[in-house]
Amino acid sequence: MMSCTVIVGTQFGDEGKGKIVDYYSDNVDIIVRYNGGANAGHTVVIGDKKFAFRLLPSGVLRSDKTVILGHGMAIDPDVLLSEISALRERQVTPARIIVSDRAHLVFPYHKVQDGLEETLKNSLRAGTTKRGIGPCYSDKVGRFGVRVCDLLDEKVLSEKLNTFLPLKEKLFSAYGSKTNLEHQTLLAKYLTYGQRLSPYIDNALHTVYCAIQNHKQILLEGAQGTLLDIDYGVYPYGTSSNAVSGGACTGAGIPPNQINRIIGVVKAYTSRVGEGPFPTEIHGPLGELIRERGGEYGTVTKRPRRCGWLDLVMVNYSIRVNGVTSLALTKLDVLSGFKTLQVCTGYEYQGKVIQQFPANTHILAESTPIYTELLGWDDITKTEWTEYIETGYDSVSPNIKQYINFIEAQTNVHVDILSVGPERELTMQRDSRRNANADNTI
Ligand code: IMP
Repeated sequence: MMSCTVIVGTQFGDEGKGKIVDYYSDNVDIIVRYNGGANAGHTVVIGDKKFAFRLLPSGVLRSDKTVILGHGMAIDPDVLLSEISALRERQVTPARIIVSDRAHLVFPYHKVQDGLEETLKNSLRAGTTKRGIGPCYSDKVGRFGVRVCDLLDEKVLSEKLNTFLPLKEKLFSAYGSKTNLEHQTLLAKYLTYGQRLSPYIDNALHTVYCAIQNHKQILLEGAQGTLLDIDYGVYPYGTSSNAVSGGACTGAGIPPNQINRIIGVVKAYTSRVGEGPFPTEIHGPLGELIRERGGEYGTVTKRPRRCGWLDLVMVNYSIRVNGVTSLALTKLDVLSGFKTLQVCTGYEYQGKVIQQFPANTHILAESTPIYTELLGWDDITKTEWTEYIETGYDSVSPNIKQYINFIEAQTNVHVDILSVGPERELTMQRDSRRNANADNTI
């Protein structure tokens, strides 16, 4: 039976989706990434080899699969070609790669615009990755965009650059910046990208349609997280695409009624990179300890991530807007060795308790988390975790179970997967009855 699973981040991105996608990829035929661009960074560790991707879906390491870069993505062709070459240099036979002909392209002027607009926004800046993501998506919506299919049509590409480059120059000059956007140079560069990418460019919508018709297993990979989503995130401190599960419909061409499972990835604590309110942020040595233990530095920008306790107001909000059917709890190992752990179950704002995630960023910024304190557990070595995984969930320490039970009780969603390290093997499937592609939970 055909199955269509979405994997979505329930926090501010960096929840460890790459590893969870890789884990579930084993049982699927096609993996489609539906949003974002080279602002994302996901790491997959196989044996002693570590792979970091910005554009390619995590499933690209499985040579028997097809991976699709969906039309909801913002594609930087230079980054994409480098990632494909890097795989070949490391002698990896990748999956079949398809780049949607409808996806939008990032140009160098988008990156310049990203930097200029961040400076002009002052305290309203999101702290972007400066990869040109926001400007690429605003051009898409404003209908100034250039799509992947245009790379294969010199006439269209030339006409678009001829029309749009002078407009960009005017915009940059209004921003107080001088630019010289050379039409011929850019045209030649992007036509060359087109030639090099032509083996991968295809009608991805048709591929997805045929996969559904032929009852294939499809995995939809969201980049970033719900709280960075353009509609549901902490606006304007998020990204410019739909990271939520609904983005899989608009960004990959999956009809809503075909999705039958939505896995929400929750990191055992919270992190965010960039600006904006973050109620459970821990300032000082404890936050730094979590950052160091969790290796919480941006994959793309290497910026230190802000770290804090698990926020279930946020996670519950994400569960609702995504329609999450099960949870994958990641980086649980990072929380080992703490005497006590705090979990946020509500906010206090002006003497009132808030359970619903607020739209107003000032309210969010002035909200104080209401915590439940849970007992921590001792440090656990990698060998011990491996033993737990081999023996099964029953062998796990009672305080770890209590942490998980608490999450389940507060969210009403089952935690199916525990991840306790970057390696594929450090993953525990809790309930085999709920194993990959086995259920029809929607
Ligand atoms: P942009 O997506 O580069 O425009 O950045 C907008 C905001 O989203 C910034 O706060 C970034 O730090 C954040 N962001 C974008 N992509 C990611 C990601 O993959 N993980 C975590 N934060 C991200």
